[in-house]
Amino acid sequence: MDKKILVTGGLGYIGSHTCIELINNGFNVSIIDNLVNSEITSLKSIEKITGVKINFYMVDLTDYNKMKNKLENENFDIVIHFAALKSVSESINFPEKYMDNNIGSLKNILKFMEYKNIKKLLFSSSCTVYGKPDSLPVTEESIFKKPESPYAETKQISEKLIDEFSNKFKQNSISLRYFNPVGAHDSGLIGEKPKGKPENLVPYISETAIGLRKSLSVFGSDYKTKDGTPVRDYIHIVDLANAHLAAVIRLTNYKSKKYYEVFNIGTGKGYSVLEVINAFKKVNKVDINYKIVGRRKGDIDIIFSDNTLSRKTLNWKPKKTIEDMVESSWRWQKNINR
Ligand code: NAD
Ligand code: UD1
Repeated sequence: MDKKILVTGGLGYIGSHTCIELINNGFNVSIIDNLVNSEITSLKSIEKITGVKINFYMVDLTDYNKMKNKLENENFDIVIHFAALKSVSESINFPEKYMDNNIGSLKNILKFMEYKNIKKLLFSSSCTVYGKPDSLPVTEESIFKKPESPYAETKQISEKLIDEFSNKFKQNSISLRYFNPVGAHDSGLIGEKPKGKPENLVPYISETAIGLRKSLSVFGSDYKTKDGTPVRDYIHIVDLANAHLAAVIRLTNYKSKKYYEVFNIGTGKGYSVLEVINAFKKVNKVDINYKIVGRRKGDIDIIFSDNTLSRKTLNWKPKKTIEDMVESSWRWQKNINR
């Protein structure tokens, strides 16, 4: 196949898992990352798992000239743009930082694509673009409601910028709207490694189970859901990585007149916070110390996907269960704390 792909944010959680699937399927991958939320060891792990040496550029994407200089002599067929800051709470405290980094990086990527005549883009969007949906499950046609955080707003703005850009330059772009990625690679060599205190549920559960955290706070039990705790559509990271592979194959092969396409990437099933905790306890035979506290700002009660379009059009389907997700998360946590 030998198509060349530039992967921004490729050392992060989702990027690193995706690089493995791409390389294992014959794509030639170069990574650009500034390590603001990742470590260089993840490059070594990808190389160890795939047996392939990767071109790595340590560049901040908000610095256009530096990026252009570093990549001047490279030619790419596709860009996958993962790089972004992703903490919802940090974005509420520092909204400008999120606009500058996430929108600034995307604008530079689009400018670079125009300069180098790169015609295909795959973008990391999020179910957060739907805000608090009117009806469930959400389809790709569901409208963008008020963003619940500046982070969510950056994803809505990004999608609009990409839609305009793709139509203006008649180039094909896809946004994947991820639901809640969890779990780790089967090798146990890569997974999610939050810098500092985790924000997301499953890393917090794992760190509590291993003793790094005393207790998990469950944010609210008065939501209108099956057990009062919020419901989300958790998706295994390897299934999510394979959705990128499917989208890259579509971008590589298709002659669609629709320049911009979006796909939901979730399992279509919703699990409550307490159901995830219980699955983790049962599968891994560990205890989780938790207490119910007040709601977290920016959280919604329930969201899960309709993934019909991605199943049909991308020829992709999620294969892993909630048990696989919590089992691989725990295996990874034990590996990093050995
Ligand atoms: P991550 O933080 O693990 O990875 C992002 C990577 O981008 C990191 O390696 C970071 O160092 C890099 N980066 C950030 N800003 C950069 C910049 N200016 N220049 C160069 N590199 C930069 O996050 P992730 O979970 O892998 O998320 C990847 C993408 O998916 C993000 O766009 C995120 O918003 C989106 N997303 C994530 C989730 C989730 O729950 N993890 C859900 C929906 C969407
Ligand atoms: C959020 C964003 C999502 C973003 C993702 C990555 C929204 C609606 N979703 O997902 O777009 O890409 O973060 O950072 O903004 N919980 C606890 N205790 C904890 C942690 C979480 O009870 O210590 C609960 C939360 O209240 C939530 C659920 O667990 O109901 C999942 O939380 P989390 O893993 O942070 O993901 P989201 O908030 O759904």
